[in-house]
Amino acid sequence: MELAFKALFLLAAAFYLLLRLATYLLTAHKNRIFAKSHNCLPPRRFPSPFLGLPNWVRLMRAAKRGNVLEHITDRYPTYGNTWKGRILIGTSIGTVEPENIKAILATNFKDFGLGPQRHANFYPLLGDGIFTLDGPGWEHSRANLRPQFSREQVSDIEALEVHVQRLMNRLPEGDGEVADLQPLFYCLTLDSATEFLLGESVDSLLSPELNPTGDGGGEMSFAQAFNVSQGYLINRTRVRGLYWMINPKRFRDANAIVHRLVDRYVDMALHPEKRAKKISEKKYVFLDAIAAETKDPKYLRDQTLNILLAGRDTTAGLLGFIFWLLARHPHIYQKLREEIISAFGTGRDGGGKRPSFSALKDLTYLRYVLNETLRLYPSVPLNGRTAVRNTILPRGGGEDGLSPVFVPKGQRVDYSCYGLHRRKDLYGEDADTFRPERWGEGVGRGWEFLPFNGGPRICLGQQYALTEASYTVTRILQKYARIEVADTYTGPMMDLTLTVAPKKVLLRFWRA
Ligand code: HEM
Repeated sequence: MELAFKALFLLAAAFYLLLRLATYLLTAHKNRIFAKSHNCLPPRRFPSPFLGLPNWVRLMRAAKRGNVLEHITDRYPTYGNTWKGRILIGTSIGTVEPENIKAILATNFKDFGLGPQRHANFYPLLGDGIFTLDGPGWEHSRANLRPQFSREQVSDIEALEVHVQRLMNRLPEGDGEVADLQPLFYCLTLDSATEFLLGESVDSLLSPELNPTGDGGGEMSFAQAFNVSQGYLINRTRVRGLYWMINPKRFRDANAIVHRLVDRYVDMALHPEKRAKKISEKKYVFLDAIAAETKDPKYLRDQTLNILLAGRDTTAGLLGFIFWLLARHPHIYQKLREEIISAFGTGRDGGGKRPSFSALKDLTYLRYVLNETLRLYPSVPLNGRTAVRNTILPRGGGEDGLSPVFVPKGQRVDYSCYGLHRRKDLYGEDADTFRPERWGEGVGRGWEFLPFNGGPRICLGQQYALTEASYTVTRILQKYARIEVADTYTGPMMDLTLTVAPKKVLLRFWRA
């Protein structure tokens, strides 16, 4: 009896293995036919011996040094604009080719998704929301969010002024005094995003304690916990399919703190009588709109958290890099300030003429400065998609890289806006230099400049973010005649999680 059972088991195992082999061979055959019919050639290989383990170790070392972006970008001049390599249990096609990014995000949009790994990896923090969902779930989230970004909503300068003035109140009054702008920018974008999206601001700029970027001792603040959680998400991304192995208590604690704050808002949306102030009927408040649709607190939390992630860190990073760069290029600061002063006057006490939404749009040099900052430091510098069916990338195959590349179902494709934006053949030999004037010379056409992504998943908050950044820069430059680098900090310059921001923006200020 026992023998018969063993024989049956071996037979079943052999049958299973045979079936797997047959499926593998059949898929490989089908793939070859598909690739041939589209004239595909393999992309160049990024050397990946020992299952790519050395690549992973180098990546981790770069993360420790704080130069992951340079580390990844350095591969492109050596291995071409599109290559294939392996890290641990997954392979990846890396690309900085505009045509390929256009295919992923627009022309072949239906062939790519965020992928099951992104959903599972991000789930403990973000649940089911616009940044983790594909298909109908994503479409539904996007449809709910769209009215939030109507022109009427994003041009509400009055609401912005309140938060920007609170930020200005925390900047130095005495000439030559020093402040770190980065934590202030995190607070500004959190305060304005919570008011804009949830109907009531967390008012973190009013709190005497202001340390959203560190990870603090004791209980973390919301902002600290949000950073810690995102740090873990990016580490989980770096080990690909093994993401589930990174799930320490600190990650779980940070997620719980973030969820607690958002749950407070969800509770207010479900019980409006608990709100401290009444919200104008004219205002579209995203959270209220979805709370009218469903009372499921988990759904409401997930949707809210996803959009808060979008609203806070990206714009805070942009603002941080603008001032980081301006302080290192005083002539550009002065040129920008002249444009601002001639439009709105100066404001020694944080006053001066308030810029209107449309007047801000007329400031050409300000637009150049914003574009140039987003070119050098795109807030989402690395991104990727997974093929949901067999498809192709139009370029990168063969030794010359001009043939299409076959992308089998399940293949991950990573693209780097950081690398794309620094391509010397697209932006000139000085591509690594901060030179806003290049935006008057016709650079960055079409898919060569992608700070806000493109295609059906293009950033919904682009106008809102650009208005917030333009307004904040204008108000600060009205008040300060001069800024100077005050760095004594020697650690890594960039804080790279899902987004990128400078670690610190330590500046010395002189009032007008
Ligand atoms: C400088 C500021 C910003 C930059 C550079 C930026 C950039 C991006 C990028 C690259 C994506 C695509 C992400 C992906 O494919 O995984 C994205 C998506 C998105 N962004 Fe932004 N963003 C900014 C600010 C904002 C703000 C302030 C909001 C809202 C308040 C916002 C809302 C969104 C939303 C909802 C999506 C998801 C779109 C979708 O998947 O359909 N963004 N953003």
